[in-house]
Amino acid sequence: MNGAARLPLGGTPSSVAEMPADRPAGAPVVAPLLEIDRLSVSYGKVQAVREVSMRVPAGSIVTVIGPNGAGKTTLLMALMGLLPSQGRIRFDGHDCRGADPQQRVEMGMGLVTEKRDLFGSMTVEDNLTLGAFRNRREGKAARRSELDRVYALFPRLKERSTQLAQTLSGGERQMLALGRALMARPRLLLLDEPSLGLAPRIVREVLHAVSQLRDAGLSVLLVEQNARAALQTADEGYVLELGEVALHGPSAQLLHDPKVESTYLGMLHED
Ligand SMILES: Nc1ncnc2c1ncn2[C@@H]1O[C@H](COP(=O)(O)OP(=O)(O)O)[C@@H](O)[C@H]1O
Ligand SMILES: [Mg+2]
Repeated sequence: MNGAARLPLGGTPSSVAEMPADRPAGAPVVAPLLEIDRLSVSYGKVQAVREVSMRVPAGSIVTVIGPNGAGKTTLLMALMGLLPSQGRIRFDGHDCRGADPQQRVEMGMGLVTEKRDLFGSMTVEDNLTLGAFRNRREGKAARRSELDRVYALFPRLKERSTQLAQTLSGGERQMLALGRALMARPRLLLLDEPSLGLAPRIVREVLHAVSQLRDAGLSVLLVEQNARAALQTADEGYVLELGEVALHGPSAQLLHDPKVESTYLGMLHED
């Protein structure tokens, strides 16, 4: 993405790796920020994610669509180190094996869960400030500039900064959850169904903010059941079915794939 060099959100450029591809000698290839190789996750004997391989190029939005129970949330939890997994996860060229969730946050991964996990009896601004624990050492000024960036992205949060989180609408809660994740200055956002329960107009607003983040250099793994909205926002998409990758391709291609159309782009998600 063209904005990747500006990085106003505090990221650092992705490592440039030499890859043995058939390209002109000396031309650097930017390695994907996230590389998942044959990842499997089980709950006891039940395998919820099976040998999933995916890549998230730096500065892009990659969506994972699929029905309820496909393994989308499980995949994100494993990426964050919240569930044990088999296979390989590489983030910015580093193997994540052995890294706990806190270390993965420090590496630059940020998860927004389906439940949003906000503190209802705290103010909007206090919820945001809590998200800044990664850059606590950098002090108040760094936190303030991060807050300003979040408020610039979501002016509604600024208007509501002293309100309790529990008084927010569904859309505002999603913005707050996203804003809080941004306070830790992630380079990769893992979003679990940000459109869930939101009216179509608010879904568009939230996903527009996600595209703005991508244009500012962030990478996003966007998990969605709302396939149409997700594919319209993302650069690439994976279809997950019964824990396995059933399809993968550029979003524009998946939007016109007959199987995706008939299974995932029915009446339900049209607005
Ligand atoms: N804590 C759990 N214990 C046992 N099975 C689970 C647990 N969480 C999810 N599963 C199962 O794993 C599969 C994938 O679930 P999930 O990752 O939540 O799917 P999705 O997010 O795509 O709806 C489902 O069959 C679900 O029933
Ligand atoms: Mg889920």
